[in-house]
Amino acid sequence: MMLRPRFVIATFFSGSKGGTGKSTLAANLAITMSQSLRSNVLLIDLGIDSSQTASRTLGVVPERLGALDFLIGAMNDANQLLSRSTYLPSVLVVPPGNVRSYQLTINVNESFNRWVYLINSLVMSTGSQLVLVDLPANAPMPILIPALVTSQIINVVLDHATYSEYVLREIDDTYIQPMITQLKYRKIINVVLNKALPGLDTIESRVRGGFARNGEVFTIPMSNCTVPNSHHEASHTIRTKGGITGKLQKSHRDHDQCVDEAG
Ligand SMILES: Nc1ncnc2c1ncn2[C@@H]1O[C@H](COP(=O)(O)OP(=O)(O)O)[C@@H](O)[C@H]1O
Ligand SMILES: [Mg+2]
Repeated sequence: MMLRPRFVIATFFSGSKGGTGKSTLAANLAITMSQSLRSNVLLIDLGIDSSQTASRTLGVVPERLGALDFLIGAMNDANQLLSRSTYLPSVLVVPPGNVRSYQLTINVNESFNRWVYLINSLVMSTGSQLVLVDLPANAPMPILIPALVTSQIINVVLDHATYSEYVLREIDDTYIQPMITQLKYRKIINVVLNKALPGLDTIESRVRGGFARNGEVFTIPMSNCTVPNSHHEASHTIRTKGGITGKLQKSHRDHDQCVDEAG
């Protein structure tokens, strides 16, 4: 009898808002979760047209075939896409590849089928218990829909800013409500308010009023350093009850040593 492996897909999403910290969180969470689960963790970087921050943060040189080459049907061997993080070999990374938006000629149904096949093949060959999916801002529908629909957990990552309430409302109206109320998907929707600075305390309480569904609202402070220089370094772990654990690597010796390589 074939046993179906158990795994969870968690996606990082911010609608049309760029630079909220999705890739940084996804990369750091991949390391934290692989350590705490003692399991391989798969990170799929879907950053089309982007700077491939999640792959780079994990030490993977992204100039190679990637998830989008597979989705458009340019290659069929999913295992060729895998690289190990140089920081933690149990974190397996699929970079986005070099496909650009204008080259994305497939429709949502085609990419959906290929996406499901990609995830299943990679989970099967790596034994990953967790798949993290890093979406870019303004992801095209053939990328966005399969990722959102197949995720059990959607982490909506926004800046800790007053306008985030409006971005969140738009994301909720456009994607979250239709999936949960009309299509009856059971999902955990977390809201992450990243780069928090003191003095915007009311944002968190306003966002708590309904946007996180079956999930939590997380606030992550503005950090002096978010790029893991080495996994041997002391790190500052942010834990919040019962939900995602975000880990922002932080040098305790000297903040000046923190270099933003993701730039
Ligand atoms: N909590 C944080 N504190 C300080 N800087 C952060 C934090 N989270 C992310 N950043 C920085 O913000 C920039 C954008 O982050 P990134 O993860 O690339 O965002 P996205 O993937 O949403 O576009 C990067 O320079 C990153 O280092
Ligand atoms: Mg990104």
